[in-house]
Amino acid sequence: MSSIDHPSFGRIDDDRVIIFDTTLRDGEQSPGFSMNIEEKLRMAHALAELGVDVIEAGFPVASPGDFDSVRRIAEAVRGPVICGLARTGGRDDIARAGEAVRGAERPRIHNFISTSPLHMKYKLRMEPDTVLELITKGNEAARRYTDDVEWSAEDGSRTEPDFLCRCVEAAIKAGATTINIPDTVGYATPEDMAAIFRMVRERVPGADRVILSAHNHDDLGLAVANTVSSLQAGVRQVECTINGIGERAGNAALEEIVMALRTRQDALPFRNNIRTENLLKLSRMLATITGFDVQPNKAIVGRNAFAHESGIHQDGVLKNAATYEIMTPESVGWTKSSLILGKHSGRAAFRDKLRAMGYGELGDNQLNEAFGRFKDLADRKKVVYDEDIVALVDDEARDH
Ligand code: KIV
Ligand code: ZN
Repeated sequence: MSSIDHPSFGRIDDDRVIIFDTTLRDGEQSPGFSMNIEEKLRMAHALAELGVDVIEAGFPVASPGDFDSVRRIAEAVRGPVICGLARTGGRDDIARAGEAVRGAERPRIHNFISTSPLHMKYKLRMEPDTVLELITKGNEAARRYTDDVEWSAEDGSRTEPDFLCRCVEAAIKAGATTINIPDTVGYATPEDMAAIFRMVRERVPGADRVILSAHNHDDLGLAVANTVSSLQAGVRQVECTINGIGERAGNAALEEIVMALRTRQDALPFRNNIRTENLLKLSRMLATITGFDVQPNKAIVGRNAFAHESGIHQDGVLKNAATYEIMTPESVGWTKSSLILGKHSGRAAFRDKLRAMGYGELGDNQLNEAFGRFKDLADRKKVVYDEDIVALVDDEARDH
């Protein structure tokens, strides 16, 4: 097995994936999701407990509050690498990021600049050669603060391939140890991202000595798929957020990537250090702090992720949960799967519910009558709750 030497992680074997969490930076950039310093500290401690390898704690030059939260997280949170974001060509960005992460056990500076024709022309108003010069200067400057330097090609997926390779080469020569190629606007397909990373590995000298990283946005709902295909093309760091929060439609969701890796080891034979039983706790903590709950059908952490309503599915799950569950609810922090009683539910789930509620075994006639009443009620109500069942069965007992 091949391996590379990394300033923060030492020898990294080829099957190891670095989980880079940016909930506190890109995630916080979702409209309405800002957090105060105490909230960020709580999240950072919980992320460390979850087992992420890198916490991107903020963008220190953006505001005094952002600087302070990165500094305090760097001083207080032990375990993960603590990273501060900086613009490659920003006036004070790299110095502020360097100062903010100084107290960390293992500090990282992550610098970025746009490389696509559209961004260089309209946003930066810079010529490609100027961007190349800044990449060299910015990464050299960052290396004066720490040996762990990441460089990102913003809008990398829409960058002209030859120029992208030249930019990556310049960043590596100037000392970057992680190279991130983001799909900043969520435009790429899984095949596009895999082709970009394969090209970089084949064409850029030194690409085999650095960690390649994926950072995908979800504008077309492809962020996690793009991350998975990037892994298959040689990426060994994935950038993601809890609940998939982030700019616009969000970033790739950490819990979805990690559970894809765990559930599909046959196709994705990679290792990471995440304690998956903590995933639900982190999701809930973030929702409570920001005031935004996840949608019920959200994979892994949504209220319905392990809930079954149709009779056929409920019957299957009661016989063997693997019939309709590809991972156990306990493995991500739920106590158990739930059988939701509604108009699609069958007699097996109804009987199981009665037993669980302490009604013991009803005779066949009693069960049939109670089930009939339950179906009438379920036609009128979307979900039948425990209280409704108590009323149904008590009515049934009174009538006999
Ligand atoms: O989406 C993006 O390009 C970013 C960079 C700053 C890494 O968030
Ligand atoms: Zn981003």
